[in-house]
Amino acid sequence: SLSASTPASRHSAAKMALSQDELKKMVGYKAVDDYVTSGMVVGLGTGSTAYFAVERLGQLLKDGTLKDIVAIPTSIRTKEQAESLGIPLVTLDTHSKLDVAIDGADEVDPALNLVKGGGGALLREKMVEVCADKFIVIVDESKLCDGLGPGFPLPVEITQFCWEHTMRKVAALPSLAGCEAKLRLGSAATGSKVDGEDPAVTDNGNYIVDLFFKEPIKDPPKAAEELKNTVGVVDHGLFCGMTTSVIIAGKDGVYTKP
Ligand code: 5RP
Repeated sequence: SLSASTPASRHSAAKMALSQDELKKMVGYKAVDDYVTSGMVVGLGTGSTAYFAVERLGQLLKDGTLKDIVAIPTSIRTKEQAESLGIPLVTLDTHSKLDVAIDGADEVDPALNLVKGGGGALLREKMVEVCADKFIVIVDESKLCDGLGPGFPLPVEITQFCWEHTMRKVAALPSLAGCEAKLRLGSAATGSKVDGEDPAVTDNGNYIVDLFFKEPIKDPPKAAEELKNTVGVVDHGLFCGMTTSVIIAGKDGVYTKP
C-alpha cells in the first residue's frame, strides 16, 4: 500500500523515482491511516498535499473503516472537496476542540516551525490547527529547510483597508529586516506574476502580502509576535510551536519527525 511506512514501501519508494504527486499521496494517506480513528473531530488542511488526506478520509468513511467522524475544513476549496466525498462537516463554532488536524506546509525548519499560506488559507488553517490536540504536517522532502524565509515567501493576510500602509508597517518590522513585501495578485490560492491583475482576495475577504527574504528569519517566534501586534495584520503564515509531527516523503521513503 502507498500509505504504509513498512521496510517494503521504503524500499520501493527508494527504487522507483516517484513523482511529487505520488509522494504527496503517500504522506496524505499515511497521516489519515496513522492518526485518525473512529469518533474523532478532524481538521482538514488546504493544498495539493492535504488534498490526498481528504481523499483518504473520504475513502475510509465510505468503505466503513472509519465511523462517526466529523471534520472541519480550512478553506472553501477543502470544504467543497470534503462535501463531494460525503465527509460530515462541522465548524469551530460547534466544535472548539479537535482530536487531530492534518495539513501541508510550504517550509519546515529544524524546530518544526512552519511557513504556511502559499495556498492563501493561512488564517482558517491557523484557527483550526491551533485547536487540535495533534497537528500533523505532511510534506515532501523539498519543504525541509535550515531556516525559514529564503526558500519561500512568507504570506501575511492583511485588511484591504489601507493595505499599502499596513504593507509598509510590516516591511519595517525589526525582526523582518531586509524583506521585500509584495501584494499577491491573481488568485489567492495560486498567486500570479502578471502585473495589472487584481489583488488576490482570501476566503475571508482580505489581501495577502508576500514577504521575500534573502537571509533566514533569525527568530521566527519573535517575528510572529511582531506581525501579530501590527494593527491591520489579520494573521500570518508563521506557525511556531504548533507542530506535533511531520510526515516526510523523500527519495529514501517516508519518515517522521520528531
Ligand atoms: C495553504 C497552505 C498549504 O498547506 C501549503 O501552501 C502547502 O501546499 P502544498 O501541499 O500544495 O504544497 O498553507 O494555505
